[in-house]
Amino acid sequence: MSEPVVLGIESTCDETAAAIVRGRELLSNVVASSMEEHARYGGVIPEIASRAHAEAFVPCVSKALAEANMDLADVDAIAVSTGPGLAGCLAVGVSGAKALAWAANKPIYGINHVIGHIAVTQLQFGPFPPDTLALIVSGGHTSLLHVQDVARHVDVVGTTLDDAAGECFDKVARLLGFPYPGGPHIDRHAQNGDPHAIRVPQGLTQGQAGARHPYDFSFSGVKTAVARWIETQQAAGRDVPVDDVCASLADSVATVLARKAMRGCEQYGSKTLIVGGGFSANSQLRAKLLEYGERCGVEVRIPRIKLCTDNGAMVAMLGVNLVEAGVAPSAPDFAIDSAMPMDKISM
Ligand code: KG4
Ligand code: ZN
Repeated sequence: MSEPVVLGIESTCDETAAAIVRGRELLSNVVASSMEEHARYGGVIPEIASRAHAEAFVPCVSKALAEANMDLADVDAIAVSTGPGLAGCLAVGVSGAKALAWAANKPIYGINHVIGHIAVTQLQFGPFPPDTLALIVSGGHTSLLHVQDVARHVDVVGTTLDDAAGECFDKVARLLGFPYPGGPHIDRHAQNGDPHAIRVPQGLTQGQAGARHPYDFSFSGVKTAVARWIETQQAAGRDVPVDDVCASLADSVATVLARKAMRGCEQYGSKTLIVGGGFSANSQLRAKLLEYGERCGVEVRIPRIKLCTDNGAMVAMLGVNLVEAGVAPSAPDFAIDSAMPMDKISM
C-alpha cells in the first residue's frame, strides 16, 4: 500500500469534523461547529456540544466521503480523536467511528488530537525532518515537543505550569467584554494597538525561575497583571485603551513562545519548528515566530488558518502516518481518554 487513504474524524470539543487524506494529499475537509450555541454561555457547554456532535456526525462523514468521490469501502483505515478533550464529545465521535469501522470491516486508530495538530503540517510542508521540535498552542495546551517519529515517539520538552496561552487570551477577552472565544478578538484589536503601551510580565523567562524552567511556560501571571491593570484604570474612571491592552498582551505571549521555541531548537539541533493548535491562528504569534525563525536559521512551519483550528484533516494525516509506519490498529474496545498524555500517540 503506497499511498494510504484514511478517513479522519474529530469531535474533541465544539467542532464535528471529517476529512479524507491520501498520502499527503487532502481530498476533502468538512467542519461543522456548534460554537454559536455556546457563545451566550461564555464557554463550551459539554452537554450542548455532545448533542451537536450526535446530530452532525453522519452528515459530516457523508459529505467528506462524497467530496472525495469515495465511499467507505475505498478507505484503508479510519482514524478518530480519542483524547484529550471533553469526554461526552469524544464518546460520540469514537462510537460513531467504531460503528463505521465494524460495519465496513476497516482498521481503526484512536489517535491523540494534540499530535494531530502537528501532523497536519505535512499536508502543506511534506514529511517531518528527523528529530524535529514542535510547539503546540491550543485552547488547552501550550507545550514544546520533541518529535523523533510522529507515529511512534514524541517527548514533552516543556509545558505550561498553569494556563495555556489560548486560555489566557480567552480570560482577558472576557474582562474586555468580548464574546467567547475571545482569542480572535484580541488578535484583531492587537493589530491597531501599541505592543509596548503596558508592561506585561513574561512568565518564567527571568532569573532562577527562568533558569529552572527553560522550556516551560506560565501565563497566569500575565493574565493577572493585565486584569489588575484594567481594574486600576476602571477604578480611576479612565477609559481602557482596548487596542493597546490587546497588543501588549499579544506581544508578551508571542515573544515568550517564540524565544523558548527557538532556544529549544538550538538545544536539540533542530533546523525546523513545527507549530500547531488553534492558537497558532494568532497573527502576532505567527509574525513573531517567523521573525525569530529567520534570525535563528530555523524553518518555521505554521499551517494555514483552516488547518490550525480543530479539523478532520489533522486526524486523517496522523492516521496515514500510523498506517505507513506499520503501527498496529487500536483494539475494538479502545477507550476514550479525556486527559490523554501528550507522549501517547495512539491507543
Ligand atoms: O486547538 P483549538 O481549536 O481547540 C483546542 O483543542 O483547545 O484552540 C482553540 C483556542 C481558543 O483559546 C481560541 O481563543 C484560540 O485557540 N484562538 C486564537 C485565535 N484563533 C483561535 N487565539 C488568538 N488569536 C487567534 N486568531
Ligand atoms: Zn485542538
